[in-house]
Amino acid sequence: MFKVTIDNITVEVEPGTTILQAARQIGGEVVPPAMCYYSKLKGSGGKCRTCLVKVAQGSAADPRPMPKLVASCSTPVQDGMVVQNITSPEVIEARKAIVEFLLINHPLDCPVCDQAGECDLQDLSFKHGMEETRYVEEKREFDIVDIGDKIKLHMNRCILCYRCVYTADQIAGKRVHGVMYRGDTAEISTLINESINSNFSGNVIDVCPVGALTDKTFRFKSRVWFLNPMNAHRNCPSCSGKVTAWMFGNEIYRVTARKDTYGEVEEFICDECRFEKKNKSDWTIEGPRHIERNSVISANHYEKSKKPSIIKPLEEKTEAPE
Ligand code: SF4
Ligand code: FES
Repeated sequence: MFKVTIDNITVEVEPGTTILQAARQIGGEVVPPAMCYYSKLKGSGGKCRTCLVKVAQGSAADPRPMPKLVASCSTPVQDGMVVQNITSPEVIEARKAIVEFLLINHPLDCPVCDQAGECDLQDLSFKHGMEETRYVEEKREFDIVDIGDKIKLHMNRCILCYRCVYTADQIAGKRVHGVMYRGDTAEISTLINESINSNFSGNVIDVCPVGALTDKTFRFKSRVWFLNPMNAHRNCPSCSGKVTAWMFGNEIYRVTARKDTYGEVEEFICDECRFEKKNKSDWTIEGPRHIERNSVISANHYEKSKKPSIIKPLEEKTEAPE
């Protein structure tokens, strides 16, 4: 096992583990944000640079620091490595610059974007972004296109993280879209606007960190923070049938895969579960889903509002002061 220290916390990990995965084993604030890396998708990572960290000591054998900040999602740990994330002002400054860079071409669509409230870029900007933009040049603009009858592509919002491309390759079986062209003309496209029609194609919506790929069956129906996410399951012949049903009263507004604390789906789901099963009777509703992610969808959540707000639990009252 390799010993690695991240923000003064030491953890033992298997050789081959990346710095980001090691940080996730520690958890909490130490974990760098990730906009393109996705643990369930092979080859993902190394595109967005949001996960940059400082390697203050390369290894026990060679304690020299690495000369530049490194992408934690694609840099494997060495034994005795010392890493700084939130304890490095250089990293915080660089992250601010990366957010600014990602926002260069990203429109201020949040008030009308379906992803608002669960958008990784929105959360990242909230935490690390600047109040004002310095960008005065024109942004790239694309027409909004349908890829298939259930998915809308807003290329203007895409940050070219490649997650949807890997998902289509590795989960949906057949990829009919990808990143076309290069540099500032790069875009996600299906070439001649072909549709994505595998039974697992809807997963591209869940992996998209921004609102570039949205669910046409849910578009403009509600802001996500008005809905109650419920764990639900059904007997599905194609996937596990374990989903999050986003409900308003007794109505199911949308169905997504269940996401973990890092916003990654736990199990990919099929399009039938996602798009076709919108009746409460289609599902066994298990109960409220606890949203662990630090986002507006976990704030003021109805799960919490059930607790009495004035009367504190007994053990909290009797706790000895530290
Ligand atoms: S459409 Fe979304 S998932 Fe696909 S590359 Fe763009 S940002 Fe990433
Ligand atoms: S998450 Fe590491 S480069 Fe994007």
